[in-house]
Amino acid sequence: MNITLRQLKVFERVARRLSFTRAAEELYLTQPAVSMQIKQFEESIGLPLFERLGKKIYLTRAGEELYRVSRTISLQIEEAEQLIEELKGTEGGRLVLAVASTVHYFGIRLLAEFCRNYPKVRVSFKVTNRKGLLQQLEDNEADIVLMGQPPDDQDLVSEPFLENPLVIIAPVRHPLVGKRGIPLDDLKHETFIMREQGSGTRYSVERFFAERGIQITASMEMNTNGAIKQGVEEGLGLGIVSIHTLEREVEDGRLAILNVEAFPIVRQWYIVHRAGKRLSAAARAFGDFVRTEAHRFVRKDMLQAALGEPAGR
Ligand code: PGA
Repeated sequence: MNITLRQLKVFERVARRLSFTRAAEELYLTQPAVSMQIKQFEESIGLPLFERLGKKIYLTRAGEELYRVSRTISLQIEEAEQLIEELKGTEGGRLVLAVASTVHYFGIRLLAEFCRNYPKVRVSFKVTNRKGLLQQLEDNEADIVLMGQPPDDQDLVSEPFLENPLVIIAPVRHPLVGKRGIPLDDLKHETFIMREQGSGTRYSVERFFAERGIQITASMEMNTNGAIKQGVEEGLGLGIVSIHTLEREVEDGRLAILNVEAFPIVRQWYIVHRAGKRLSAAARAFGDFVRTEAHRFVRKDMLQAALGEPAGR
């Protein structure tokens, strides 16, 4: 058999996802390129690895056996890569970070400072929502993930490092702006621009209202905080976002934070990695940096100022 590591890698991804399309997306290849690799792979093995029934593909017996072996080979390659990163230390090591779309606002500032301290570390910084982050962890693609509370999972090591208050934002001329202690019930008359399914913010907002038996109306769904902020400014509805996504919109008079009973919803940001993952020196240095310094990269005055309360309360 004359098989290459590249073919094995493509095969493993198609087998894991049972989809040529998803494998192609994740490997940044075209679908015909993936099909070609699989075809050549099957030819050099002399047996089919997938079978197609209707629209779905399945692994053949040979495919299943090879999938098991290819998992072991890729884990060993990953281990070798991690070992090499470890030996490089923070001089030239690599750090693969994945952060929640909501975190990246302060995450970039945090990373910039880290890179000034460790200029030789090469960084990959991926931004996605909660669902995407859980997938990254499952696929062992990120060293460290910064996200909202991860699910209870024995395969994950997580630690909270910062509070994450969620607030309701409104256009500045909205009639509720300036009122104090707005009852939750009053929100029933409003419409909201919600984050997409799979977002941690969306998940906590839904849980918050469900626990209180309050039904809010979603006027539309948007998949970035930036779009929601703009949508709110344009009067498309109210929004519920982490205060860490707000930049100068409040000071500049473009958005207002509403003073609503039981708000903010206080969540936590967590630093997460897979249990048993051998973290490189660069990843460990970044973890320490997040734990001790993250608080310097968010504005603590914003919540009090926006709600008209004296700072330091
Ligand atoms: P997001 O937030 O998925 O809404 O961007 C991250 C999280 O809460 O995990």
